[in-house]
Amino acid sequence: MIKKFKGLTFLSILMVFALVAAGCNNDGGSSVDVGIVLPTKDEPRWVQDEQRFKDALADSDYSTEILFSQGSSAKEKENVEALLNKGIKVLIITPHDGAAAASAVEAAKKEGVTVIAYDRLITDTDAVDYYVTFDSLAVGAAQAQYLVDNAQGSDVPLYLYAGAASDNNAFLFFEGAWKVLQPKIADGTFKIANSSEAEGLKDSAELSRDQLGKIIGQVTTNWDANDAKNKAQTHLTAAGDDLKGDVAVLAPNDGTARSIADVFASDSVISSYFVTGQDAEKASIQYIIDGKQSMTVFKDVRALVKDAMGMAVEILDGNTPETTGSYDNGSVEVKAKQTDVIVVNEDNVKSELIDSEYYEASEFTGLE
Ligand code: GAL
Repeated sequence: MIKKFKGLTFLSILMVFALVAAGCNNDGGSSVDVGIVLPTKDEPRWVQDEQRFKDALADSDYSTEILFSQGSSAKEKENVEALLNKGIKVLIITPHDGAAAASAVEAAKKEGVTVIAYDRLITDTDAVDYYVTFDSLAVGAAQAQYLVDNAQGSDVPLYLYAGAASDNNAFLFFEGAWKVLQPKIADGTFKIANSSEAEGLKDSAELSRDQLGKIIGQVTTNWDANDAKNKAQTHLTAAGDDLKGDVAVLAPNDGTARSIADVFASDSVISSYFVTGQDAEKASIQYIIDGKQSMTVFKDVRALVKDAMGMAVEILDGNTPETTGSYDNGSVEVKAKQTDVIVVNEDNVKSELIDSEYYEASEFTGLE
């Protein structure tokens, strides 16, 4: 057995070695330093981030791989495991579901990988080392302030919509908006048109997580344009004429804002509407130029990518990345770096998005 083996030994050792080498990178690909996991390709926002990462990484010394979770926490876990098998040392991840992502990052932590939450916080776990994000409270406050600044008279019907309850940002956006809207609801400028939960809390300036959850549960769009459309149709069908005319609409992001705006535009009893947005998606910039959406909150994804990759390189170089604050994720204070946001409406599309080379003028029609 041994002899044969011996003759065989050299050949088989070679083959075993090859197999082991192949086993490490189980798809035969090369090892990866930084793994990046984004929630879905079905929303322009995250396709934007993918492109901005690629642009930023073009001449990086470190190898990276970007994977999408297609709106599934199970797929997200698979993605993280695939990247761990490729030997990543840093994981940059936007969770599909902030709480459900805990198990994926705990697996990464066990392998000694440094975890950076990207844009959305991962909650109720100590397996998150850093967080890079935009000022999400300011996003909601800016959307609400826009509606306040454009409200004429009193009893202006106010339609509230929110993001997905699985997304910690949805709570921050709504909390930021409520802080600005609540005093204007209490003084009669606005009357709530589509949420009994919000109506029941209209005298509460500060809302607890549970109270926020109750309202979000009732007016969530799940970040889905179709859900948003169906909800808006249901609300307008249920609304009497006293809740129509000139109205205000808090839409949480651009993808949902466009479908909600289309529903309001098609209701003949609605004479005018102001509708908010977020993300400065190209299609919504065109809507703003065409007067079909009122504003958006621009979040310069280039800054977020720069912060995330800057942190990753510091970590790979054995340094401690710079942070500017922290977020309590229900388990630990996560060290964070936060970027400001910019309100964009028809008056400053050119200065904020074209002159900054975020987009090209040729990508739009009717841009003065
Ligand atoms: C949020 C993100 C927004 C928006 C939304 C939908 O977490 O901060 O920019 O895109 O998800 O995916």
